Amino acid sequence: MRKIEIFDTTLRDGEQSAGVNLHTHEKLEIAYQLARYGVTVMEAGYPASSPGDFDAVSQIARAVRGCTIAGLARHVQGDIDAVWGALQHAEAPRLHLFIATSPIHMRDKLRMTPDQVFETAVAMVKYGARKFPDIEWSAEDATRSDWDFLAKIVTAVIDAGATVINLPDTVGYTTPHEYGSLFRYMLDHVPNIHKAKLSAHCHDDLGMAVANSIAAIEAGVHQVEGTINGIGERAGNASIEEIAVALAIRRDFYQAETGLDLTQTVRTSRLVSKLTGMVVPPNKAVVGANAFAHESGIHQDGVLKNVLTYEIIRPEMVGLSSNALVLGKHSGRHAFRGKCEELGLHLTDDEFNQLFQNFKLLTEKKKEVTDDDILALALEASANS
Ligand code: KIV
Ligand code: ZN
Repeated sequence: MRKIEIFDTTLRDGEQSAGVNLHTHEKLEIAYQLARYGVTVMEAGYPASSPGDFDAVSQIARAVRGCTIAGLARHVQGDIDAVWGALQHAEAPRLHLFIATSPIHMRDKLRMTPDQVFETAVAMVKYGARKFPDIEWSAEDATRSDWDFLAKIVTAVIDAGATVINLPDTVGYTTPHEYGSLFRYMLDHVPNIHKAKLSAHCHDDLGMAVANSIAAIEAGVHQVEGTINGIGERAGNASIEEIAVALAIRRDFYQAETGLDLTQTVRTSRLVSKLTGMVVPPNKAVVGANAFAHESGIHQDGVLKNVLTYEIIRPEMVGLSSNALVLGKHSGRHAFRGKCEELGLHLTDDEFNQLFQNFKLLTEKKKEVTDDDILALALEASANS
């Protein structure tokens, strides 16, 4: 079984979501839960960005055990020193260095030539390697970069001491086929590529972050990066829970495992949603409130006969106790009878037919019929009889 390492960046890229601002104690609570979930690496923050972030990263580094803790840095000595200051007590610290490699970012943002970017990258990886045995090097905006330039700079930073090479789709621009090809190109054109691990980091601007991450896994990456609930800049990052469950459900095809304790999925999702204030859409894959809810009569009938007819993920896998048959206008007699039995209503056939008719009338006025509604209908019927 191939191991896919999960690099969680909820506390760094995720916290970059508009409107999100976590306090240190909230970051710690999330960090403990991420460790319980079983992530391989957690990016605790960007220590040079503010004293508050430095403090949060230091506290996480001292307290959390069982996974690598990463800190982000630009290619600036002060940033690298700040990461070391914050991470020196971590069980396994990782320096995460990033610099842009696309023409538009180099010219208009960094105002550097490709040669200057190349030299700076090599110099800062060497500087970081004086303290850090584990250095992740990220080519920001890799998917809009020249592939030959990428191959050249990646070769050089591996020689300088980088242990992980990350090629982020910073602006969510790539598509699965292209992203997979980019990694295959690196595997073919970087002579020392096997001295480092390859990593994918996807954003969701075109709604393809998870699909792109899976394509990168197909191409051979060792690590995928993402956030809980897919939170992050603009449309967000790849959802870790979606990638992990996809690999688990399609183990037959991918023969890969993440090492995550998937029964912690919903708990982790709810904690992150509560502390960040970012509501999970009900139809979100894996963790949305409707992800295990069946409404139509045909589906409910199928699920009652054999749950696998319409449910590819068992709720228990992600830490839920059961699915939900939601009673609404599409529900049929079969599901309604099951609900009456569950509520302890012992009905003759005539009583059941009458109650079912009344229930159908109610669904014209109310989208979702609750247990209390059904009990009230039953009470009304017995009062009228
Ligand atoms: O999206 C991105 O390019 C990043 C880097 C800092 C890794 O988040
Ligand atoms: Zn990012």
